[in-house]
Amino acid sequence: MEIINRIPRMISIARELRSEKRRIGFVPTMGALHEGHLELCARAREMCDTVIASVFVNPAQFGPNEDFEKYPRDLARDAELAFTKGVDLIFAPALDDIYPEGFSTYVTVEGLGDRLEGASRPGHFRGVTTVVNKLLNIVSPHFAFFGRKDAQQVILIKRMVRDLAMDVEIVVVPIVREEDGLALSSRNVYLSADERKAALVLKRALDRCRTLYNGGERDCSKLISSMRSVIESEPLARLDYLAITDTARLDALDTIPFDQPTLISLAVFLCDTRLIDNIVLNGEI
Ligand code: PAJ
Repeated sequence: MEIINRIPRMISIARELRSEKRRIGFVPTMGALHEGHLELCARAREMCDTVIASVFVNPAQFGPNEDFEKYPRDLARDAELAFTKGVDLIFAPALDDIYPEGFSTYVTVEGLGDRLEGASRPGHFRGVTTVVNKLLNIVSPHFAFFGRKDAQQVILIKRMVRDLAMDVEIVVVPIVREEDGLALSSRNVYLSADERKAALVLKRALDRCRTLYNGGERDCSKLISSMRSVIESEPLARLDYLAITDTARLDALDTIPFDQPTLISLAVFLCDTRLIDNIVLNGEI
């Protein structure tokens, strides 16, 4: 159990682990760990010999008016939680190690990164793919674990790994939810008691969609308007976007196909806090 701050040390440990033929599992995070992150760590623990988690709040993926400054940070707590779940090493690099003076190389997954979350948060995915690429270069894991909570992020990272022939397998872990259905998120701590109750509207809208789908409804405009009315019934909620897309190109669909995975995703503001959630019908991403 060790917290590693410097890139050269992390690289040399990873090189040594690989030379000992240990299977490295990697869980990238921005900290403020909760049971969702810990589920990724548990999956990594099952599948790998050494589990490394990173904690780095990545400025490049936050917009100018987003919550980079106030994002919750508590490395000591994160490390303790992670180590009790069987994480072997934490990599917590400094800002200017990841982005040294003159940093000017970015990884962009074109097209996919401008849709859904990317349309609402311009530049967000360029920041994500750039930092994930750099972290993967440093840690050189055999497996890297990501949550389906951020479905579009998974789709982009898988595309980056394929397009750039990166030698890592991406493992996708299902969404961990509170008992009442709210998807765990580091941003849930921003919610007031009333907003916390109102936040259930995301899951309620997705449940409505699934129920209609199970009842045979395949018309996306009907599914969307039904989900929209669920969101609109909650006065504290303001819909950002709601989309039914395929999972390869993230194109909006008219009808849900019977043989292709379909992503139903949404983002909702509760006052200033923006939450996302999704379900996948007909398979997985
Ligand atoms: P962060 O939001 O900290 O999330 C780290 C990982 O935990 C992501 O793969 C995310 O999908 C997963 N996760 C979060 N909440 C979850 C939940 N309720 N159930 C399952 N998995 C969940 O995602 C990021 O950080 C960053 O973009 C990062 C990949 C670290 C790059 O900076």
